[in-house]
Amino acid sequence: MPAKNALVAVNGQSAELRLRSGTMGPDVLDIGLLYNQTRMFTYDPGFTSTASCESKITYIDGDEGVLLHRGYPIEQLAEHGDFLEVCYLLLYGELPTAAQKKDFDYRVTHHTMVHEQMSRFFTGFRRDAHPMAVMCGCVGALSAFYHDSTDITDPHQRMVASLRMIAKMPTLAAMAYKYHIGQPFVYPKNDLDYASNFLRMCFAVPCEEYVVNPVLARAMDRIFILHADHEQNASTSTVRLAGSSGANPFACIAAGIACLWGPAHGGANEAALNMLTEIGTVDHIPEYIARAKDKNDPFRLMGFGHRVYKNYDPRAKIMQKTTHEVLGELGIKDDPLLEVAMELERIALTDEYFIEKKLYPNIDFYSGITLKALGFPTTMFTVLFALARTVGWIAQWNEMIEDPEQRIGRPRQLYTGEPRREYVRAPHR
Ligand code: SDX
Repeated sequence: MPAKNALVAVNGQSAELRLRSGTMGPDVLDIGLLYNQTRMFTYDPGFTSTASCESKITYIDGDEGVLLHRGYPIEQLAEHGDFLEVCYLLLYGELPTAAQKKDFDYRVTHHTMVHEQMSRFFTGFRRDAHPMAVMCGCVGALSAFYHDSTDITDPHQRMVASLRMIAKMPTLAAMAYKYHIGQPFVYPKNDLDYASNFLRMCFAVPCEEYVVNPVLARAMDRIFILHADHEQNASTSTVRLAGSSGANPFACIAAGIACLWGPAHGGANEAALNMLTEIGTVDHIPEYIARAKDKNDPFRLMGFGHRVYKNYDPRAKIMQKTTHEVLGELGIKDDPLLEVAMELERIALTDEYFIEKKLYPNIDFYSGITLKALGFPTTMFTVLFALARTVGWIAQWNEMIEDPEQRIGRPRQLYTGEPRREYVRAPHR
């Protein structure tokens, strides 16, 4: 598509800005030269109208509820693929051949152990520490163990670090859970697939054999796929910004984990389940709907609304289907939380306020019910989100490092503080 230009004229200044078109989605106005030409900044604190980068990894159409990873619809990847196949796709840009998949699975599987010293990090935490606090600390500490893959200018080292993180996140997440509940750590087993290995590291105990339920393992794998990547969300933008300074990949991922923890972002799955539990029964729903609409009440329906999706989050539909599969496999009938969730969704989707503001369930609305049914405590929900999102963060981080336009991210501001004033020494100073 030929680049066109846009003329911006304001306060007697003018700037000719390049208009760029992508493969799909909105065009962008390249404002890189705006300050040089007009001595003015743009202002967009929530980045609602700002593209921070060019990317080939994930495409979202919020109005249509479309999510593509390297062009493939999330519905098809969730239905037909497995998580490591999606990891390969996100990292390398194409689906793997059978040989490539076998090699990738082998490489990831043989990086799942962590340095034995890592286990001593955990003992420094209180047992009741939030597992996300533990993950922030332990993932950042990986850079203390893997100096041989922290040179970001070396593509080989970047790929080794990428594989290490994809491979070790389940092990660290399971260790955080085991430490939290006072059970011994369980080592990974190389004859298990990614999701089965993770479930076993979480739920096996030394006293008996742990038999993986293939339906639950498939559900876990699909949940990882649904959380793998999501364009330039807050935590991915955090990873990109941290990486733009040249920080090592482990530190960048730790920064992403910290950002994801917030209840407005990945912490919403924990908050959504706590909200459903607080609502308790269907007859309490109207009270909470009213609170969500009350401007003076900070309460929000957790798991509802999205910066980009102004339609149903396609992941939420697949998650809801997975919820029913897991509850069915476990023989859980009439789960009160699911009953509240489905009635809350039904009411919200017919309520004028939610329709007008285009508030639909997002991926966090049903995930908590599924994860609780799988046996995880709410404090582990965002850890699972971080585990799955690591591949997205890593793929976006690699793309940022390889981007010839990449520079350190350094936004400016609109200053509204005090003008210059002189310091006068007062008697009391
Ligand atoms: C994730 O970005 C991503 O891609 C994130 C993610 C990913 O995969 O990485 O998809 C994962 O983070 C999903 C979102 C999880 N968060 C929640 O479920 C928390 C509840 N949702 C909201 O806090 C909110 O919807 C956000 C944070 C998700 C989006 O916030 P925006 O885009 O800044 O929208 P907003 O806060 O300006 O809300 C617009 C209006 C407001 O009303 P007005 O001030 O215009 O009158 O909608 C209202 C809000 O009050 N609103 C809600 C609401 N969400 C927005 N009202 C009630 N309940 C809600 N959940």
